[in-house]
Amino acid sequence: MSHNSFGHLFRVTTFGESHGPALGCVVDGCPPGLALTEADIQGFLDQRRPGQSRFTTQRQEPDRVKILSGTFGDDPDQSPRTTGTPIALMIENVDQRSKDYTDIKTKYRPGHADLTYEAKYGIRDYRGGGRSSARETAARVAAGAVARKVVPGVTIRGALVQMGPHGIDRSRWDWDEVGRNPFFCPDPEAAAFFETYLDGVRKEGSSVGAVIEVVADGVPPGWGAPLYGKLDADLAAALMSINAVKGVEIGDGFVAATLQGEANADEIRRGADGKPLFLSNHAGGVLGGISTGQSLVARFAVKPTSSILAPRRTIDRAAAETEIITKGRHDPCVGIRAVPVGEAMVACVLADHFLRHRGQVGN
Ligand SMILES: Cc1cc2nc3c(=O)[nH]c(=O)nc-3n(C[C@H](O)[C@H](O)[C@H](O)COP(=O)(O)O)c2cc1C
Repeated sequence: MSHNSFGHLFRVTTFGESHGPALGCVVDGCPPGLALTEADIQGFLDQRRPGQSRFTTQRQEPDRVKILSGTFGDDPDQSPRTTGTPIALMIENVDQRSKDYTDIKTKYRPGHADLTYEAKYGIRDYRGGGRSSARETAARVAAGAVARKVVPGVTIRGALVQMGPHGIDRSRWDWDEVGRNPFFCPDPEAAAFFETYLDGVRKEGSSVGAVIEVVADGVPPGWGAPLYGKLDADLAAALMSINAVKGVEIGDGFVAATLQGEANADEIRRGADGKPLFLSNHAGGVLGGISTGQSLVARFAVKPTSSILAPRRTIDRAAAETEIITKGRHDPCVGIRAVPVGEAMVACVLADHFLRHRGQVGN
């Protein structure tokens, strides 16, 4: 039974626990000849890395990636290239403070996978959640950086569009703004508000959720593998597999159910180039599980961080009722650091579907 891999032709397997010596991934099926260095991957890892602002955990995880295999280059004037063999990427764990977690050794943290891992496997690495820890998402981000190389014509960008109950004003959407504030927020006014709002939440020792939107531009029509490899289905599965994600929408998502047919179905005209021109994008760039050539739009809801300072009721391994306060260093809104993770998962799905499309119907 192997369920730590995803993708078919661009196949990613991740390994490692939060408090083990290292974690990482093996990317198998990457085409040969793509320029790839550690620096290409590191930039994305730095976006996910904790301690970037006072709004993320102060754990210091440098998340330095090492390429162990799958690239080669003996020309000092040229970047190493992928060789078509498995690309192994490793990130060492250097800021584990196992003692932060010793008092939760016997107690199950509400909102965490402690209880379910123990119910399933009968054994649990209590230090930071082990394999269930979102530290694993660093490996996904590394794989996503490789995936982007496979689909260079596609731009994949993510943004935080809601924090707690507060949504952004979409009329102020500016992609450049995403890199200017600590929230990956495209609305500068909302970002300014989130500073005060999240400071308050953090000082209370509490947490909030968020909604993230990922948009992929440059996806040509035709990607997606009906019926059981539909592009939207694979995107939903990939995003849903991220820690703390409780909902995924494609295009208008749940709002589509509130619309009438004439408002929802995207009308089509003939564009100046003779190609189909859609007058709107309620579908989020997918019809029948196949990309339309429009922007691909996916959103996902991230629950509030479960590890908070407020005491919570729980039980211990002997089923005795007790309380727990999760000490340690945690994000008040894990949705912020989920932005690069969502981008990476979309990148991996798109790289896989590009190769699958090419494999079945050619370029
Ligand atoms: C980037 C990222 C960082 C996270 N960091 C924390 C954290 O510091 N504390 C916490 O309680 N949960 C954190 N989580 C969420 C937990 O990993 C997750 O809620 C837990 O493993 C249970 O899984 P589930 O919520 O998917 O059911 C994080 C999630 C993401 C995406």
